[in-house]
Amino acid sequence: MKIKYILPALLSISFLGVTTVNAGDEHTVPTAPDEYLKMENPYADELENEDLLKQAGKFYKRKCKKCHGTKGDGKGSSAADLEIKPLDFTEPGFLAGIKDGQLFWITLKGGSEEAEMEGFGPGTDANLSEDDIWKLVTYMRAKFTK
Ligand code: HEC
Repeated sequence: MKIKYILPALLSISFLGVTTVNAGDEHTVPTAPDEYLKMENPYADELENEDLLKQAGKFYKRKCKKCHGTKGDGKGSSAADLEIKPLDFTEPGFLAGIKDGQLFWITLKGGSEEAEMEGFGPGTDANLSEDDIWKLVTYMRAKFTK
């Protein structure tokens, strides 16, 4: 490695910080930018809308269940292979403490670089619409809140 590359490399390591180096124990899920945290779920009042939940449930089973688990407890069939594990959405108070905009943002854009959750929004492989993603947010709230 040439000298001129060493300094930037060192700098980027320190920017990434402890959380990345010790992926696993120290990892924290990234927080959405303010503009997302401020967003309101257009379906916030539809937590008991069976048609909506059925539709979103199909997406959940196809795209999310293998990691987050049928029950949302993070124990999907692929979870054991992930270095960074999905959190347990069903832990009492967990979803109550997370804004809709945070759930929306991660589902839209994906998790942190070192986590293996890709984004599902427009232009991704899954290519779900923002509307579909709000329905997924509603599904998670309706089914997994404890
Ligand atoms: C390959 C496994 C995998 C799949 C598939 C997956 N996730 Fe994730 N998910 C994760 C991991 C790992 C994290 C932690 C991300 C991080 O730390 O950056 C996460 C984080 C999240 C969070 C953030 C919770 C918080 O604390 O802010 C939400 C919401 C979420 N996932 C929803 C979904 C939805 C909805 C789907 C399906 C459309 C999905 N995930 C598909 C692995 C997955």
